[in-house]
Amino acid sequence: MGMKEIVKLFSEKGILIDPEALDYISSKDDPLSFAQDVISKLSESSLVLTLEEIKKMESPEEENIEEEEGLGTKIFEKVPVGTGEKVLAKEYESEVKIIKDVTGNVTCKGEVDDFTKLFNSRYNKIKKIFHSQRRGLRNSIPIKKIKSGKIKEAQIIGIVKDIRTTQKGYRIVEIEDEEDSITVLIPKDDPRLYQQAQEIVYDEVISVRVTSGRNGLFIAQSVSYPDISVNHKKKKSEVPVYVAFLSDTHIGSKKFLRDHWDRLIKWLNGEIGNSRQRDVARKIKYIVIPGDTVDGVGVYPNQDKELEISDIYKQYQILSEELQKIPDHITVIIQPGNHDAVRPAEPQPALEKEIQDLFSGKEFIFVGNPCYFSIHGVEILSYHGQSLLDFSTSIPTLKYNQPIDIMKVSLRKRHLAPIYGGHTPIAPEHEDFMVIERIPDIFVTGHVHLSSVGEYRGVTLINASAWQAQTSYQKMLNFVPDPAKLPIVDLKTGNTTSMDFNVV
Ligand SMILES: [Fe+2]
Repeated sequence: MGMKEIVKLFSEKGILIDPEALDYISSKDDPLSFAQDVISKLSESSLVLTLEEIKKMESPEEENIEEEEGLGTKIFEKVPVGTGEKVLAKEYESEVKIIKDVTGNVTCKGEVDDFTKLFNSRYNKIKKIFHSQRRGLRNSIPIKKIKSGKIKEAQIIGIVKDIRTTQKGYRIVEIEDEEDSITVLIPKDDPRLYQQAQEIVYDEVISVRVTSGRNGLFIAQSVSYPDISVNHKKKKSEVPVYVAFLSDTHIGSKKFLRDHWDRLIKWLNGEIGNSRQRDVARKIKYIVIPGDTVDGVGVYPNQDKELEISDIYKQYQILSEELQKIPDHITVIIQPGNHDAVRPAEPQPALEKEIQDLFSGKEFIFVGNPCYFSIHGVEILSYHGQSLLDFSTSIPTLKYNQPIDIMKVSLRKRHLAPIYGGHTPIAPEHEDFMVIERIPDIFVTGHVHLSSVGEYRGVTLINASAWQAQTSYQKMLNFVPDPAKLPIVDLKTGNTTSMDFNVV
């Protein structure tokens, strides 16, 4: 059995394998059965398998025996409370820095020229990225120059104003820079170009290599997205603490998953879980909530029928009470989503002071949506994710229930929500806060109530589940959520783990 097969076996289970671990498995007499044995022993979905973990499995100490026996909620509940045990995360001071956030920087006044300012900001930011990253794209020229007819071929950068398909299957894209606009035909016979053209969406900034043909027609030779560098070097923290991502709590909804939530709280307090799981809990120093903390009121048709608490202020009071149950040494970072009590247009500022004042007893940090912040030097881009729907309905290759693929496209476009006039309301800020100006180490979204983890060019991608069962609205849309899961990142190693409270 070759290394490729081993990697495949693990990747089918959603597990990445460390090169050292791979070497070790390959060196065994029967690598296949050894690998299968390893998989069977992974009781939580560890995403990167290390050699250390395999060694631990081979020489089961007391804790591993307990782990094998300890599967199933009932047995977990019997595990003695972790009092007196070392709480690692407690030993470290929190270290959160806000890098970029619209909170306190709202500039739009709702005037007509606000949108002009927003799109100019977007154009200039993305153009800067093109010029800084891509050698071949540095020499772009203004659209009016190629239209003058003197230049036969050139690189241009512009905002997509229109994109359509002709009856013969050609894509026609109209792009615009600060002075002029141009209509470009994208041939259908080049599969690579065709694929690139499939991903073009309205209002994003792209770079196109065009040649001028007959009759004033311009033909695309290639389409480029700003993208992120191929091998982003992920920053790591010096201290061994974990950050957990817990999205879409939807407090106030009748569909709030009370039992799962209570198990989460018990686990965080060291009361349930096998020894390995309790060890993870002890290392959690941060919890990030990427939006939809409460269910809100009047967010979707007939929502009132599914509300347990119909007063939004009361919903936040209950949220505060629930978060109070989390150990005090954990810092909680709260971001709003489309169900929260802030303006619906993105970027959204942090929850207002009146609501923030309801929270006490531990460190709470209120941020806007989106927000760049760092934890012990590890940069996180947190975005609730409303535009995931716009991307999936605009690009035929994307599916709403595969958020990781959408997040990759978003990174390629260096923009969180380019499409204006879709599902995501956009505020005409004078600066475009939705541009992905910095390459994060972790990019997290919520909103779609799914739980998935992935990686793109060195960036960890997380969609952070939900704590709400399927709503009637989701049922109508035929959408099945994947709730009560908790993706966790070890800030020191960058490795990812996930806890499943449907099982724990
Ligand atoms: Fe939600």
